[in-house]
Amino acid sequence: MNKKQAQEKINELRELLNQYSHEYYVLDKPTVPDVEYDEKLQELLKLEDQFPELVTEDSPTQRVGGEPLDAFEKVEHRVPMLSLGNAFNEQDLRDFARRAEEGVDGPISFVCELKIDGLAISLSYENGKFVRGATRGDGTIGEDITQNLKTIHSIPLNLKEPETLEVRGEAFMPHQSFLKLNEEREANEEEPFANPRNAAAGSLRQLDPKIAAKRNLDTFLYAVGEWENSDVTTHSGRLEKLKELGFKTNPEWKKCSTIEEVMEYVEYWTKERPNLNYEIDGIVIKVDDLNQQDELGFTAKSPRWAIAFKFPAEEAMTKLKDIELSVGRTGVVTPTAILDPVRIAGTTVQRASLHNEDLIREQDIRIGDTVVIKKAGDIIPKVVRVVEENRTGEEAEFHMPHDCPTCGSELVRLDGEVALRCMNPNCPAQLMEGLIHFVSRNAMNIDGLGEKVIMQLFQEDLIQTMADLYRLEREELLKLERMGEKSVDNLLKAIEASKENSLERLLFGLGIRFIGAKAAKTLAMEFENMEKLKEATHDELIAIDEIGEKMADAIVQYFEEEKVKDLIDDLQALGLNMEYKGPKKKEQHEQENSVFAAKTVVLTGKMENYTRNEAKSLIESLGGSVTGSVSKKTDILIAGEDAGSKFDKAQKLGITIWDEEQLKEALESVSE
Ligand code: IVH
Repeated sequence: MNKKQAQEKINELRELLNQYSHEYYVLDKPTVPDVEYDEKLQELLKLEDQFPELVTEDSPTQRVGGEPLDAFEKVEHRVPMLSLGNAFNEQDLRDFARRAEEGVDGPISFVCELKIDGLAISLSYENGKFVRGATRGDGTIGEDITQNLKTIHSIPLNLKEPETLEVRGEAFMPHQSFLKLNEEREANEEEPFANPRNAAAGSLRQLDPKIAAKRNLDTFLYAVGEWENSDVTTHSGRLEKLKELGFKTNPEWKKCSTIEEVMEYVEYWTKERPNLNYEIDGIVIKVDDLNQQDELGFTAKSPRWAIAFKFPAEEAMTKLKDIELSVGRTGVVTPTAILDPVRIAGTTVQRASLHNEDLIREQDIRIGDTVVIKKAGDIIPKVVRVVEENRTGEEAEFHMPHDCPTCGSELVRLDGEVALRCMNPNCPAQLMEGLIHFVSRNAMNIDGLGEKVIMQLFQEDLIQTMADLYRLEREELLKLERMGEKSVDNLLKAIEASKENSLERLLFGLGIRFIGAKAAKTLAMEFENMEKLKEATHDELIAIDEIGEKMADAIVQYFEEEKVKDLIDDLQALGLNMEYKGPKKKEQHEQENSVFAAKTVVLTGKMENYTRNEAKSLIESLGGSVTGSVSKKTDILIAGEDAGSKFDKAQKLGITIWDEEQLKEALESVSE
C-alpha cells in the first residue's frame, strides 16, 4: 500500500471508529459488537505504525494515554469558571426567581439540570479539533489535563462541524466503575477512594495518562465559555447544539416556566436520585434566554442567572453495634462506633468516629442504639443523633477506660484537652501508628508498605522501630502471608530507595509533635542537615519565620530524648540520607531576584542552543513558570526561529518578546 492509499484507508477507519465511539459512549446505543471496534482499531494501529507520519493528535488511537508528564502546565481561563450560589429550600428558589424577574424585561423561562458531582472541566476546540482540556483550578487558572481527558471516550476529538469554542462540563465516574475500582484497590491493599468524585478527581490529576485511561470516566457538558460566531440565543438551544456537535449532554434537563414546575423537578429528582448510575448533589436552575442572562450578569462570585439547589446531606439509620478504641500516633485514644453496614452517599459505611467521651455523653450514645448517620461534607461519616424511640432498655452506656486498651498504662487527660492520652512512649499501638506515618506518602513515601503490611510486620515482631524497617531481610519477608517474590523484591527496592530521600521527608516521618510537612521543609532548608538541627536552640528555632514557640519547644524536647538520639544514630548507620537536597536558600534567593522571578514565560519556535525542555527547566530554576499558550497573563514570549501564531498573538497583546540571544544573556547573567 502506498502512502496515499494508506491515508485514504486511515481516514475511513478513523471516521468509522469515531462513529462507533460516539454511538457507544455518547448515545449509549452501540450499533456494532465490541470486537468489530477492536478489529478496526487494530487495523488503524497497524497502518499508523507503518506510516508514523500519518499519525495525528485527533486519531482514535491517541486515546490510550501517552507518556507521563513531569508536571501539569497552567492554563488561564479567559472567561472565568465561576461557581454557583446555593438554594436549600423552596423559599430560596422563589427569592432567586423574583430577583431574576425584577432584573429583566418580559417573562422568564428556566432550564433545570442535574448537578453532577464530579470535577469541572473546560474543553477547547479550534476548527472542530480538540486542542486543550483543563481543570477549573481557582476559576481563573486551571491545569492542562489534555492528555488525561483524551482518554475519556465520550469527549469528541473531532466535532461534527468545524466550530471554535470552549465548552464546560463535568467529568465523573459512574457508580459501577467506582465500585469496581475500589474493589481492585482493596485487593491490592491500596486505600479505596471515599466517593466517586474523589476517584474522578484523583484519576484526572495523575501525571501518567495511562492511569486515567483505565478509569472509565465519563462526561456531561452543560455550559459554554466562549463560542465564536454562534447564533444560538438560549441555553436550551446550546444544549441541543452541543449534542449535535457530538458532546455528551445530560438528557434529563427540562424547561420550566414557573417555580412550581421547578419545584416539581426538584422533588422528582430528590426521590429518583438513588436510581441514577452517577452521583448528583443537587439541581441547577438557569435562566434560558441568553440575552436575559447578559442583562442579569454576575456578582463577584457567581452568575445572577443561575442557582444550585443543594440536596440535604443524605442520612441513614443503622444500629451501633459496639464502640472500639484506637490509640493514635500521639497516644490519643479515640472511640469509634462500629455500625451495621449501611449505604450512604455512594459508599458503605461501617465505622464512624465518636471523637471523645464528652461528645458521647452529650449525645447520650449507647451501645445497641439505633442511630442516624450522615456524611459530613459528604465524606466523613458522623453520628447525628440517637433514635430514642427505638430503645429497648438493653442498650449499654459507654465509659472510657482508665487504662490504655493496648499497653495498659494509665490514661491521662492533659490540661485543656478533652482527649485522653496514653503517655507510654513504648505503647505498641503508638509505635505502629508512628511506623504507618513514617512510611506514608508525604513522609518517606515507601511504596508497597501500606497499613496492612506494617501491621503484619509488627505483629510478626519483625519491626518495632523505624530503623528496623531498614533491617528487614528477604527471607523473613517471604515467609509472610500474601507476599510473593515479586512483591518482596519491590518492597525491598522501595525501602532502599527511601534512604535517599531529602531530609524534610525524614523529619516529617519522625513524627515530632506539631511538625507537619511544611514545617519540616522549612527546618530542612534552614539547617540543611540533621546534625545542625539536632543542636538548634530554642532561640535559633523561633528566629525562623513559620516556627513558633510550641514547635520550637517540641523540637528541642524531642532531640533531648535518649531514645531519639539512638534512633537517629541507628538510621544514619543504616545509610539514610540526613541532608537537605532541595533548592538551597541561596538558590531561592537567586530565584527571587532573577529576571524570571514570578514571571510567566511562553516558548515558541526553534532555538539553537537549548531544547525546549532545557530552556524550560532553566527558567523554572530561576523562579519563572513556563506555560504552553500566550494570554494576557504572559509576561515574556521567547521566540526562536519560525515562530508562528504565538508570536502574532503576543504582538497583538503587547507582550514583551525576546529572541534567543536575549534569553541567553538573561540566563548567563545569573550564573556569573
Ligand atoms: S453551570 C457559571 N451546570 O457545580 C456557572 N454547573 O457551583 C456554570 N456543576 O463548578 C456552572 N453540574 O462543577 C452547572 N448542570 C450543571 C452542573 C454544574 C455540576 C458544578 C460545576 C460548578 C459547580 C457550581
